[in-house]
Amino acid sequence: MEYTVKSGTPEKQRIGCVVVPVYASRKLSPSAKNIDKASGGYISNLIRRGEIEGDLGNTLLLHNVKNTLCDRVLLIGCGKEKSIDANTFYKINNTMVKTLQTSGATEIASYLTEVAVKQKDAYWKIQHSIQAISETLYLFDSLKSDKKTTRRPLRKFIFSVSRRGQLMKGEQSVRQGMAVSTGITLAKDLGNLPGNICTPNYLAKQARKLARQHVKLKTSVLEEKDMEKLGMGSLLSVSKGSREPGKLITMKYSAGDKKQAPIVLVGKGVTFDSGGISLKPGAGMDEMKYDMCGAASVFGAISACAELQLPINIIGIIPTVENMPDGIASRPGDIVTSMSGQTIEILNTDAEGRLILCDALTYAEKFKPDVVIDIATLTGACIVALGAHPAGLLSNHNPLANDLLSAGQSSGDRCWQLPLWDDYQEQLHSNFADMANIGGKGAGTITAACFLSRFTKKYHWAHLDVAGVAWKSGAKKGATGRPVGLLTQYIIDRMKAGS
Ligand code: BES
Ligand code: MN
Ligand code: ZN
Repeated sequence: MEYTVKSGTPEKQRIGCVVVPVYASRKLSPSAKNIDKASGGYISNLIRRGEIEGDLGNTLLLHNVKNTLCDRVLLIGCGKEKSIDANTFYKINNTMVKTLQTSGATEIASYLTEVAVKQKDAYWKIQHSIQAISETLYLFDSLKSDKKTTRRPLRKFIFSVSRRGQLMKGEQSVRQGMAVSTGITLAKDLGNLPGNICTPNYLAKQARKLARQHVKLKTSVLEEKDMEKLGMGSLLSVSKGSREPGKLITMKYSAGDKKQAPIVLVGKGVTFDSGGISLKPGAGMDEMKYDMCGAASVFGAISACAELQLPINIIGIIPTVENMPDGIASRPGDIVTSMSGQTIEILNTDAEGRLILCDALTYAEKFKPDVVIDIATLTGACIVALGAHPAGLLSNHNPLANDLLSAGQSSGDRCWQLPLWDDYQEQLHSNFADMANIGGKGAGTITAACFLSRFTKKYHWAHLDVAGVAWKSGAKKGATGRPVGLLTQYIIDRMKAGS
């Protein structure tokens, strides 16, 4: 898809379709008024006859409107003019795309950027129009024999800006919207692939492929024998139960000053989580192919930052394994030694995410990070606590937590902080090792983070539990690409604050 920005009045656009907002009740936007005036009151006439109210979700497609240069005019109902928030803006764009897909138009001039969205500026609207369009058009049919083909697919969107002076920054928003959308799409594709295709080896290949697309991005992969030398007994205790060898992928994006400490992103890459010997129940087990969505979000965020050629240093670390039951799989009660030297009693082999993350977090020390953020579909308890709206956030450094919270607000890809109090640490007590890998009843998301916190003492760290947000269950089952939007926004904000 091609995207660009332009300033100019709607009736003068020589294009397949011009999209203009109308508000409840029957109120015309400035661009709708322009077309109304040019056409001798055609639109106000239609509205008087009750053809469109302007409620959210309303649409009216018009052809050959008098004194306009476009083939079609699409009126989009936006609801009450003064109560449009980021979610409503998404819905408006979503309705636009769905209507256009069957209209025959291929090139579109959108004046939806005219809509006032609470607390957001023109540039946000351009970026998020692109993300909404990309989201609506997303289709994962690479594994279906019958691929949907559209006879006249949408090819181009031009977003209206009110002044010529906004064009340059507008183009920047276009680039950002496209880069984030590409990152989100990559994360969704990886998430949606099944466990028999998206294996640890497949992820390593994809990381190498991504590095070939960007000169400043380098990938390296540690094999099980390398990890043995490093003493990653905890990670290896999970991977040994599978025929698929575990890997530790490192992606290094170096476009900043050599002396600048990197932002390190660590993503949980369990390509399938059966639970291991502590086997999960059968119902819904297929969804555990999404247990690598933390890793996928690291791919997505790094891809977006590289695409934008941000002048910073970012390192992505992806511990990736498959969690399976086997004759040599870990048993409940086994004790393993992590790379940090701390010993862990595995009381439940289904709490495997923390077992692979802890060694990756120790490994992260060697990069002398500015901050470390891990992203993981870590606990079902997070879905119980927060549902599907925000990711769970826990951190050992409040300024970092606050930066993530505000990046969540501005990107719309939100997170919500839970307490990482010492009071919870005792739940990890083990009679036989330094700690247990589960914290018993109560506060499952917090005790999982407490476990990780024992491996992150040497740097500023935040943990995002994305079990509730990384994919949707039910009829519209699929990966969401979250939290690529949040991570990219955090990185951009941090870069701007530092310069
Ligand atoms: N990958 C799961 C977490 C999960 C469960 C995400 C359901 C999304 C939906 C993780 O490895 C896991 O199994 N966690 C256990 C931890 C428990 C054994 C302490 C859980 O949440 O049940
Ligand atoms: Mn598990
Ligand atoms: Zn898991």
